Amino acid sequence: MISWDKDFKIYNFKSKYGPWALVAGASEGLGAAYAEALAKRGLDLILIARRQEKLDELSKKLINEYSIAIKCLALDLSDIAHVIEVLSQIDLPIGLLIYNAAYAPIGDFDTIPSDDLAKVVDVNIKAPLLLAKFVSKKMIENKRGGIVLMSSLAGSQGSPKLVTYAASKAFNAILAEGLWSELKEHGVDVIASIAGAIVTPGYQQAQNAKKAPGTLTPDQVAEKTLKALGKKPTIIPGFTNKLARFFMGRLIPRKWAISIMKQNTESLS
Ligand SMILES: NC(=O)c1ccc[n+]([C@@H]2O[C@H](COP(=O)([O-])OP(=O)(O)OC[C@H]3O[C@@H](n4cnc5c(N)ncnc54)[C@H](OP(=O)(O)O)[C@@H]3O)[C@@H](O)[C@H]2O)c1
Repeated sequence: MISWDKDFKIYNFKSKYGPWALVAGASEGLGAAYAEALAKRGLDLILIARRQEKLDELSKKLINEYSIAIKCLALDLSDIAHVIEVLSQIDLPIGLLIYNAAYAPIGDFDTIPSDDLAKVVDVNIKAPLLLAKFVSKKMIENKRGGIVLMSSLAGSQGSPKLVTYAASKAFNAILAEGLWSELKEHGVDVIASIAGAIVTPGYQQAQNAKKAPGTLTPDQVAEKTLKALGKKPTIIPGFTNKLARFFMGRLIPRKWAISIMKQNTESLS
């Protein structure tokens, strides 16, 4: 049966954010869910991750199911200058950027090597910042487009054992809020998705990670975020996570919030 409402929404989404969407960190988990949610909306996709075979597998499935065009780029986002060079060469009209990749070394600050700390800055801060700069130039010229930056509830207060990752996620949330205001004047929508626990391979790999209350699937987070794009500067997917953020950020003293976070991250390794 034809759903005119659904078709209209898909058409609107594609004309606002198409024809190409770039998903940075797309080979599995939430990145792959974003890729599928965008394929359903008819956008062509540039998919970036380090593992070529995972990208090829996903790309084959999405082309079969949705008849879209896909360009897979096996690149490391920690070298963002090279990524931007490649994107400039292929020169495809990107109307939407989803920055999903993240690096999250777990452990006490004094035990994490300096190179790993620098990699958090490269993958979680420098890359989304410079990719947003790169794609927004054309978006501003075209007076349309969208940018989604992944943040985390871990970035709402200091998070022991994840201190640098948490700080990098705070950066993304604040960056998106500022860009939301500046770029909306040019017709470009920006949103930070401040997610709680998501059942991704990354989350499951963190040993002993118990399923936290309010845990969502990657599909749920991708859909809720894309639906909120253009409506507000930040989205906290899931009711329990909204409540948790309100409680931790507004109702209790900051030092209690950090202690609660510490209890949650203690079992991670
Ligand atoms: N999972 C959670 O519970 C949770 C909670 C709150 C917020 N978040 C946020 O949601 C996002 C995704 O979560 P996730 O960490 O669980 O990951 P994910 O979506 O399961 O996967 C991360 C993706 O990024 C790619 N990637 C990682 N490092 C890369 C690099 N240096 N260069 C290129 N690609 C890279 C990985 O592919 P390759 O390995 O093939 O490169 C993979 O496709 C992150 O921004 C995270 O901060 C997650």
